[in-house]
Amino acid sequence: MKVLVIGSGGREHAVIRKLKENKAIDKIICAPGNGGISADAECRNVKATDLEGMLELALKEKVDFCVVTPDDPLAMGMTDLLEENGIPCFGPVKKAAVIEASKAFSKELMKKYNIPTAAYEIFDDPQKALAYIEEKNSYPAVIKADGLALGKGVLIAEDHEAAVKAVRELMVDKAFGASGNKVVIEEFMTGPEVSVLAFTDGNVIYPMISSMDHKRANDNDEGLNTGGMGTIAPSPFYTKETAEICMKTIFVPTMEAMNKEGRTFRGCLYFGLMLTPDGPKVVEYNCRFGDPETQVVLPLLKTDLFDIMRAVHDGKLADIDIEWSDLSAACVIEASGGYPESYQKGYEIYGLDENGQKDGVIVYHAGTKKENGKYYTNGGRVLGITALGETLGEALDRSYAAVKEIGFENMHYRTDIGRKLREIK
Ligand code: AMP
Ligand code: GLY
Repeated sequence: MKVLVIGSGGREHAVIRKLKENKAIDKIICAPGNGGISADAECRNVKATDLEGMLELALKEKVDFCVVTPDDPLAMGMTDLLEENGIPCFGPVKKAAVIEASKAFSKELMKKYNIPTAAYEIFDDPQKALAYIEEKNSYPAVIKADGLALGKGVLIAEDHEAAVKAVRELMVDKAFGASGNKVVIEEFMTGPEVSVLAFTDGNVIYPMISSMDHKRANDNDEGLNTGGMGTIAPSPFYTKETAEICMKTIFVPTMEAMNKEGRTFRGCLYFGLMLTPDGPKVVEYNCRFGDPETQVVLPLLKTDLFDIMRAVHDGKLADIDIEWSDLSAACVIEASGGYPESYQKGYEIYGLDENGQKDGVIVYHAGTKKENGKYYTNGGRVLGITALGETLGEALDRSYAAVKEIGFENMHYRTDIGRKLREIK
């Protein structure tokens, strides 16, 4: 079996390391991959968004299965194109990926099918958006670009002035391009946030172990929103009771809603939830594995990932029993100083062995390149250091101990990943 994994981040590295456990897979190709991934897969220089180039690579290599991991190629129809050419894929088709690619679509879906989420309005005219904000006069106001924006298109305005600035930035200055042609303005919710990724083939939906991301750049949740600075799993806030409520009011209804809309979702559906005083509500859907949630969730998966992915593709997920470890996991992201804004690349990374790893932890490479046997920084998020433990505290201590020994010039990381959670049972 030859498998092609599309993408180049820590999440793709986590998928590849898990797929490597399957004995039937002889070769994993990753496009484009990165320096650290090249120790676990053959990397090919085709961009994740190059649909034709990827099809050509898949056909030339005669791959038996393809995992389409990032949001952009999914939203562009990579799965559709590969499947039309006879290559089975894990990852939703374009018309199902819209659940992430358009926030306006996902909000309307939730309204139509009574799935709990923040109250909202959608605007394509900045004047009308501003008039609505003035009329509501309720802060913080949450203003979101409709389209994909690398997890950065959500602005939370504390007062009127900030709200005006946010609307201008998204809709007039187009800080995120066409993603801001439409905006969603919604009610501000409070409560702990939990990420739940779920495997679904449209017939059944199996939630994975819960996790929690830390999206802000700095300690104490200060600074700009990033792609994610660290994760823990499972989330102590996500009790069995909450899980049952989510299954009944959110997970199954979402799967069924997509079926009814003729947009059956097959792949990994990501639920970004907030556990509000009125119960769990959806903050966002993603049509893919989360990054860096995957870096704490997949190491806890006991069942073979490739078997699950093929069952999802074949619509036979109900035949599989998915088992999870009862350990905890923590992942601390080492980023380039300056991220998520501008940063320097090309610093040598110390503390890694020749495979880009370190004993006792799993080092997921996000933005690295390898030259003459050495690893160098090559992106905003550089490494994700994952450790497991009997308790969350133990996992965090192990991860932070390794963070002290692996690094590079101008490195930035959060020192408080999971800190507030480690004492919660
Ligand atoms: P999203 O990209 O939609 O997940 O939003 C990014 C982050 O903004 C979320 O993880 C939340 O921390 C925050 N956020 C989004 N929507 C809301 C909301 N309605 N109320 C409060 N915080 C929100
Ligand atoms: N960690 C959030 C995301 O993958 O969108």
